[in-house]
Amino acid sequence: MKCSTCQAKAAIEIRRHNAAFCGPCFLAHLERQVQRTIESEKMLAAGERVLVAVSGGKDSLCLWEVLRRLGYETTGLHLDLGIGDYSPEGRKKTEAYAEAHDLPLQVIEVKEETGFSIPELAGRTRRPPCSGCGLSKRYLMNRAALEGGFPVLATGHNLDDVAATLLGNVLHWQVEQLTRMTPVRPASHPRLVKTVKPLIRITEREAVAYCLLRGTDYHEDECPNAAGATLLLYKDIVNQIEAVSPGSKQAFYQEFGKRVRPHLAASETVTLRECEACGQATTGEVCAYCRMMERARQVTVRRGRVTRTVLEVPPA
Ligand code: AMP
Ligand code: FES
Ligand code: ZN
Repeated sequence: MKCSTCQAKAAIEIRRHNAAFCGPCFLAHLERQVQRTIESEKMLAAGERVLVAVSGGKDSLCLWEVLRRLGYETTGLHLDLGIGDYSPEGRKKTEAYAEAHDLPLQVIEVKEETGFSIPELAGRTRRPPCSGCGLSKRYLMNRAALEGGFPVLATGHNLDDVAATLLGNVLHWQVEQLTRMTPVRPASHPRLVKTVKPLIRITEREAVAYCLLRGTDYHEDECPNAAGATLLLYKDIVNQIEAVSPGSKQAFYQEFGKRVRPHLAASETVTLRECEACGQATTGEVCAYCRMMERARQVTVRRGRVTRTVLEVPPA
C-alpha cells in the first residue's frame, strides 16, 4: 500500500478517508485535521492562551503536542486523582512531557485540594468512583482555568469517546446530555470557562500512532475503575459497525451535530446562577460539587442505637 500523498510505502491506512499515509504525511494529515476542526468550530483564536487538560494518556498528550506544534500558547493542567498505582504514572508522563518541551504545567493534587482522593471520595459518598471523579474533574478544571485567567480549556476527547457517548445518550434518550454534546461549550456564565474538544475528528488509534511516531511517551493503562464501564461496550459496538462500514463512526457524530443538535439547542433553557457555597455556576442554590463534598465530609457515627452525622473535615 502506498501513501496517498507522496507514494512512499504507507505506514497507516485510514479507511474512513479512503487513504493511507507514510509516517511524515500521517503526522501532517493529523495536524491539519485538528487545525481544521479548531477553525471550523471557532475553538481557539490566534494568540489566545489555552489551558490543556492533560492526564498523561495518549489523547491528551497528542493534543498538547499538536497544539504546541500549531503554535498555540499552551499551559498544561494535570489533576492527580490519587488512584493507586494508576495516578502516579499519568502524572510522571505529563511532567516528563512538560519538562522535555519546556512548557508550563499546573498540577492539582485532588487529595490535598479537597481532603479526599477519588477512591476515598467514592467510599464516603457511596457513589461509583467515575461519577465523583467526573464531577470533580469538571469542577476543578473550570476553577483552575478561571483562576489562571485562561479564556479556554481544551480536553483530549477523541472521536471514539464522543461517538460512544452519543450512542449511550441516544439509547437512553438523555435529551439534556444530547443538548450539551457540542465540540465547543461556550462560557454561558461569567463563572464558566469555554471548553473545546479539538480531537473530535481523530480516533484513538490515530492518537496512538501520532504519539508513537512523534516519540511522545504516554501512560498506556486504562483507569482501573473503567473496567466493565458501559462506555467501553459502546466504543466496541461502534468499532464493530465501523469495521464493516468505514466512516460510520464519524458520520454518526458529525451528522448528529449538523441535523439533530441544532433543534435540541433551540429548546435549551437553563438559568445559571452562582453557587451559594463556592460561587461557581449552577442551576440550583448549591452546586452539585459542593453538595457532593458536603456529603463526603459527613461521617456517620453509631453511638448506641442512635445514628448521628458529624462533620469530620471542615469545608475548604
Ligand atoms: P477521560 O474522561 O478520562 O476519557 O478524559 C477525557 C479528557 O479529560 C482527557 O483527554 C484529558 O484532556 C482530560 N483529563 C482526564 N483525566 C485528567 C487528569 N487526571 N488530569 C487532567 N486532565 C484530565
Ligand atoms: Fe476517574 Fe478513573 S479516571 S475514576
Ligand atoms: Zn459550589
